[in-house]
Amino acid sequence: MSEPTSGVALQDPLDETAINAAVEDAIAAIAAASNLDELKAARLAHTGEKSPLSLANRAIGKLPGDRKAAAGKLMGASRGKVNQALARRTEELEAERDARILVEEAVDVTAAPRRRRAGARHPLSVLQERVADVFVGMGWEIADGPEVESEWFNFDALNFPPDHPAREMQDTFFLEPAEAHLLLRTHTSPVQVRSMLERDVPIYVLCPGKVFRTDELDATHTPVFHQFEGLAIDKGLSMADLRGTLEHFARTMFGEEASIRLRPNFFPFTEPSAELDIWHPGAKGGPRWIEWGGCGMVHPNVLRAAGIDPDVYSGFAFGMGIERTLMFRNEVLDMHDMIEGDIRFSEHFGMEI
Ligand code: DAH
Repeated sequence: MSEPTSGVALQDPLDETAINAAVEDAIAAIAAASNLDELKAARLAHTGEKSPLSLANRAIGKLPGDRKAAAGKLMGASRGKVNQALARRTEELEAERDARILVEEAVDVTAAPRRRRAGARHPLSVLQERVADVFVGMGWEIADGPEVESEWFNFDALNFPPDHPAREMQDTFFLEPAEAHLLLRTHTSPVQVRSMLERDVPIYVLCPGKVFRTDELDATHTPVFHQFEGLAIDKGLSMADLRGTLEHFARTMFGEEASIRLRPNFFPFTEPSAELDIWHPGAKGGPRWIEWGGCGMVHPNVLRAAGIDPDVYSGFAFGMGIERTLMFRNEVLDMHDMIEGDIRFSEHFGMEI
């Protein structure tokens, strides 16, 4: 690409009039440049290799010796003027550009920020992890089992007689075909049997998970909810160990003033069985006893079904509902709030991780 040149080629470095005219041309073009691109074009045209002033400067070499000094002086002064004009204009245009950029790219540090909502974890998940943490802190392991369970694990192995009312259609979601004897587990207790079959004694496991019952959704019921199941199998375990474990658990979850009481009850898979109540010091409307779950010593038939000798080992088990725990721990009055997934409900529990 050839450089742009301005005006007629000027070759005589002693033609003062022509040189002054070229200088004026150059200065006018520099002054007329309204941005740095235009200034660059003017610089190339008036100071580039093929510009009149450069050509005249190069011609000095061909002059007779006695004229070179005068020509050199004239050319030096002329080119100096043009370079000064260039430098000044460059400075001006750069300052203009910088000022413009500052305006165009200005950041309003006082503008209201557009916030992204951070989201929130569901309080049931957070509570479930808290419960698990308490037991992991005691050296227990977390176990799980399938939500689609076989009838044998859900009922038979847990010593439910064949005609037990809990098996009836109104409580249990059975899967078709009926001959497959599959169902949606109605409690986390089948994980007791699975854990005993999968692990070596001694066993200390906590099994949190989803369970299913054919209840209609209302303020206190939901067909899908969560439980956590505890199981300890070892030599020489007694009701005292069960009580001590549950008391520690209650105090960790509800504060040092919390305590528990056991009331006789019946479950097919424990003997003796008990209903667990907790003394909830922070309950709204004052401290009171609240029904929390079931527990007991693992029935010898359950140990046998899992291949463990009840004459050598004994164990205790307990099971509680997570929704129910959240309800009385955090004064949630309506089950709908827990299952509707409205982030505003989750948010006010905070970002406990
Ligand atoms: N599985 C029982 C239920 O869903 C709760 C339960 C009671 C679990 C006693 C246990 C237990 O481990 O020992 O109602």
